[in-house]
Amino acid sequence: METERTIAAAGYATIAGCRLIPLRTVDDPRGSITIVEGEQDVPFPIERVYHLHGVPAGGSRGGHGHRRLEQLLVAVAGEFDVLLDDGAERRIVRLDDPGTGLYIPPGIWRELEAFAAGSVCLVLASMLYDAADYERDYADFLAWRSG
Ligand code: TYD
Repeated sequence: METERTIAAAGYATIAGCRLIPLRTVDDPRGSITIVEGEQDVPFPIERVYHLHGVPAGGSRGGHGHRRLEQLLVAVAGEFDVLLDDGAERRIVRLDDPGTGLYIPPGIWRELEAFAAGSVCLVLASMLYDAADYERDYADFLAWRSG
């Protein structure tokens, strides 16, 4: 799996470094538990957790790239699209399974779109919040990628 550490040697991540990860899930008649442990189930230490909720039906979030941050996104309820863009290629992944995470390595532009009503996006992140890690303008993101 492509991680910040291998990318540091090989250059920025590409779309191919974005991967769906089946998460360990324990099912029983009472319901299910899905487990994510840092550096075990994801290739990074988990430094921050947040969730997106209350997004209106059809709504969007994101629309930025991160220079160093690694993330795992999970649709713990509902479903939404994740547009991934490495500056050369785009791909859209629909997340709709609380037992599957989408790993996004550093250097990828992402947009979360087409939320179904009541959806919740859980985000596990490799770093504390750092506004300087964001590329919020797409032209700046492309310039940074090619620079
Ligand atoms: P932002 O990452 O821009 O969300 P989105 O791209 O989905 O619209 O964050 C929105 C606001 O929340 C922004 O003012 C920064 C703040 N924020 C934090 O303070 N800490 C965090 O960990 C995150 C993710 C956001």
